Order: sequence, then C-alpha cells, then structure tokens
Amino acid sequence: MADNIVWHDHKITRAERSVNKNQKPCLLWFTGLSGSGKSTIANALDVALYKRGYHTFLLDGDNVRHGLCKDLGFSDDDREENIRRVGEVCKLFADAGLIVMSAFISPFTGDRRLVRKLFPAGEFIEVFMDTPLAICEERDPKGLYQKARSGQLKHFTGIDSPYEVPAHPEIRLDTSRHTVEECVESLIAYLLEREMIARKD
Ligand code: ADX
Repeated sequence: MADNIVWHDHKITRAERSVNKNQKPCLLWFTGLSGSGKSTIANALDVALYKRGYHTFLLDGDNVRHGLCKDLGFSDDDREENIRRVGEVCKLFADAGLIVMSAFISPFTGDRRLVRKLFPAGEFIEVFMDTPLAICEERDPKGLYQKARSGQLKHFTGIDSPYEVPAHPEIRLDTSRHTVEECVESLIAYLLEREMIARKD
C-alpha cells in the first residue's frame, strides 16, 4: 500500500445517502459458471428494481473486461485481481447509496470472501447460480464450452479450470428449474424481507 496517504472521511455519510434514496445499499454478488444465468437474472432484477424507482447499478464480467480489467486474462492470479478490482468498485457504488448487482464467474471462495469482508454484515448477498454444468454446456451461448472441449480454449471454468461451489450462499438459484420471473421474484422477496427495499402500496 502507498505510504503517506491518509483516509479522508466524507461529509455526507452512507446512512444519509441511504435515507435520501429510500433504500439500503447492498451488493447482490451473482456467482456461477459461464451460461448459468448470472447476467440474465441480474439484468432482469435490475429492470424490476428500476421500474420500482430504485437506484441500481450492474457490473458484468464480459463488459468490465473490455475496460477496467482489459489487462487481465483467465489465469488464477488474473481472476483474483479481476475480482479484487470489481469488489472495490462495487463498494464505491454501494457507498454512493446504490443497490449493486455484479455478474462474475468468481470461481474462488477466497476471492469472494474478500469482497464480502468489504461490506457491513448483511449487505453482501451472495447469489449462487446453481445451474448444472451439463445445462450450461448445452446452452453454450458463446460457443466457449465447445472450444474448451476441443482444446481450442484453455483454462475454461468448469472444464479445465475449477469452480469452487459456495458453501453458504444467501440465495441459490437454478435457472434450469425456475423461470427468469420466478428467480427475480425470489430476489425481490429477499430484499423486501431484509428491508433493503420497502413494500410500496
Ligand atoms: S472470472 O473468473 O474472472 O470471474 P469473468 O466473469 O470476469 O470471469 O469473465 C467470464 C467471461 O469471460 C465468460 O462469461 C466468458 O464469456 C469469457 N471467458 C473467456 N475465456 C474464459 C475462460 N477461460 N474461463 C471462463 N470464462 C472465459
């Protein structure tokens, strides 16, 4: 860490921003295999919250890797750095008072735990997309599983690179058994129950 740098407290606190926006900031961290439905469900939730008037933001692996993380590949070290950066960015958006959604494979438990630690208790919501590998591979929306199976693409998650299954995710969704609407409904129910958002008449 750089020396001679002192933390500066902001005048407007997180809590004040939260009151202003009528919502509690949090991070819904979608994790799972490629093709498990992370981006689809995160986007659908984003739309549902936006329509209800909430202030949200979505960060997505494929997009972030075009900019902030374009210098990173898919080695274990690069994935770790990818998640570290994204975690810090998510924290900034949450500090700004937003409900943040992130969609990254984030295959390593330790990396996800580090992001969790950046957040106050209850504000990091791990959403495990528990869609079976066989289904993700059948969907193969980007043709990457096929490339990985034929050896054209190395170090692909679920094929020749590991995915460490979350032991205690706050929410578990399987998009091979539930529709997009059902998944969004259970996420909204969770946010209501935890009073991250309020029931509207
Ligand atoms: S992570 O492992 O570092 O969390 P991230 O979510 O940012 O991954 O990026 C995953 C996306 O990159 C996949 O959806 C896929 O489109 C693409 N990709 C390209 N190469 C690989 C690979 N070797 N393993 C996994 N995803 C890959």
